[in-house]
Amino acid sequence: MSKKLRIGALASGGGTNLQAIIDRCLDNSIDAEVALVISNNPDAGALERARKAGIPFQCIDHRGFDSRESYDAALVKALQSAGVELVVLAGFMRLISSVLLDAYPGRIMNIHPALLPAFPGLHVQRKALEYGARFSGCTVHFVDKGVDTGPIIIQAVVPVLDNDTEQSLSERILRQEHRIYPQAIHLFAQGRLRVEGRRVLLDPPLSPTEAALTNPEIR
Ligand code: GRF
Repeated sequence: MSKKLRIGALASGGGTNLQAIIDRCLDNSIDAEVALVISNNPDAGALERARKAGIPFQCIDHRGFDSRESYDAALVKALQSAGVELVVLAGFMRLISSVLLDAYPGRIMNIHPALLPAFPGLHVQRKALEYGARFSGCTVHFVDKGVDTGPIIIQAVVPVLDNDTEQSLSERILRQEHRIYPQAIHLFAQGRLRVEGRRVLLDPPLSPTEAALTNPEIR
């Protein structure tokens, strides 16, 4: 059996994306294992999920550090000691510095609850709704120095409905997050992702399609 990719997950909140990744590792739909979960938040639900799944976890509270770099150095130390090969940010509410980026070049992913490059940053489901976008969705991307700017691996599109609230739209997007994050990791674990400039290409490529969505539908 081939060696499984070792994932380190960083999460600050409830950890539903982490759970989706754990579940897909356990049912072998991705050839990877979550080797370590780290949170900056002692109360993160993500830590409890790790505990329940029997996965090693650590709380590294950022409040004990005097700079972003010294905090990230502690993250790198923990990740490397656990033999982590791919870092996944799963609702990790901190900006990361070059200390972490340089330790894992091209090996850090993030999930964002909007269709990048539209609506980077925070509260983006509300922003998509307020803007009047007809579609929103979610994006898994490699992490670079910017905020939500790295090369895009996979996106899922959902419609914005007339009666949506921030919550209903967020829930619709979250259901897709739970599908695409494990898939991005799966493709990475299989060695199928090739980054060329800003573009992430699939190797071997998918068969071409011109499928398009409209909202409202054209009938
Ligand atoms: C998700 O909406 C994700 O896109 C964003 O933070 C949220 C994390 O949710 N980066 P959870 O902790 O995975 O439930």
